[in-house]
Amino acid sequence: MKYKKIAQEQLEVSSVCMGCWALAGDATWGSQEKADSIATVRAAIDAGINFFDTAELYGKGYSEQVLGEALGSDRDKVVIGSKFIRRAKAADITAACEESLTNLGTDYIDLYHIHWPSREVPFAESVRAMEDLKSAGKVRHLAVCNFGPGDLSDILGLMTPVVNQLPYNLLWRAIEFEILPACADAEVPVTCYSPMMQGLLTGKFRSAADVPAGRARTRLYSGDRPEASHGESGAEEEVFTAIAAIAKVADEAGLDMAAMSLAWLLGREGVAGVIVGARTPEQIRHNAAAGDMALTPDITRRLDKITEPLKQKMGSNADMWNCPSRMR
Ligand SMILES: NC(=O)c1ccc[n+]([C@@H]2O[C@H](COP(=O)([O-])OP(=O)(O)OC[C@H]3O[C@@H](n4cnc5c(N)ncnc54)[C@H](OP(=O)(O)O)[C@@H]3O)[C@@H](O)[C@H]2O)c1
Repeated sequence: MKYKKIAQEQLEVSSVCMGCWALAGDATWGSQEKADSIATVRAAIDAGINFFDTAELYGKGYSEQVLGEALGSDRDKVVIGSKFIRRAKAADITAACEESLTNLGTDYIDLYHIHWPSREVPFAESVRAMEDLKSAGKVRHLAVCNFGPGDLSDILGLMTPVVNQLPYNLLWRAIEFEILPACADAEVPVTCYSPMMQGLLTGKFRSAADVPAGRARTRLYSGDRPEASHGESGAEEEVFTAIAAIAKVADEAGLDMAAMSLAWLLGREGVAGVIVGARTPEQIRHNAAAGDMALTPDITRRLDKITEPLKQKMGSNADMWNCPSRMR
């Protein structure tokens, strides 16, 4: 496992971070046994992962609770990222942080993120509350998610986020147009969420019809799918054509497709890590293998070329769902 230093070298994190959204067993992911979640977190640690990402939103705190329980006395050996959402006023942020601390069973959060930018409350107020939490030792470092160039520029005078957590994977390259360059200019490293495009890059789904409905709602899928609300036509044909070609590259190189897809991301300029979800020990062990994998320039070029038409078709809107708050 490779480790990277972030936060002015104050934190050393595994390049593969375990994302804990699916542990919530919510409408997106379907049911999840607690014993499996705990075993997955323990397997992550055994595989060298020391970085875990969760949020108050995931199962209304349940993901945080399970993570805290699974970490137990190892809490101080790992880096925990959590987030608050739609609570941008100072008092709400303080309350959200207290709830997250209770859920996690800890007295500090290493990386505290704004989950989505709120434009109803000035950033200055939110940042002040976050700085107060930092001064009180309840959070160690401040971070953001889903900040496009406009929001990033607005917040930079108030704080420098330790990372900007963004959607990025072979099938979702929208941030390459404007957001990644803006992060590079601001020297803000990127951590990549949904790095396997919610399971698509494992190659286990043969068509969009195979993908569970809760997940088939991103803008890659047709807006006609039952849970989709983005109202766009999607790019299902291009997606599954690209997946078949990516699978062929993996097969020819003798690589695991999921780990190869994560390794492609880890080779991108400005990327500090991949935040990959897993629901079983077997999945996290596969995914952790990316932390030791370096792709040849030829494989990287082939993967770039295969996914370029999809990147061009989807364009620069990096929001996977067309969330009400959007990315700007
Ligand atoms: N900041 C934000 O706004 C934001 C948004 C989204 C996600 N996130 C974070 O990013 C993390 C990862 O994103 P994500 O969960 O959306 O997507 P992902 O990491 O691309 O996909 C994870 C899912 O793929 C399947 N999978 C993973 N590894 C596998 C393997 N080796 N073999 C077969 N299937 C495998 C699992 O689901 P199945 O077994 O059910 O197929 C797993 O839950 C989240 O947990 C969360 O921490 C942040």
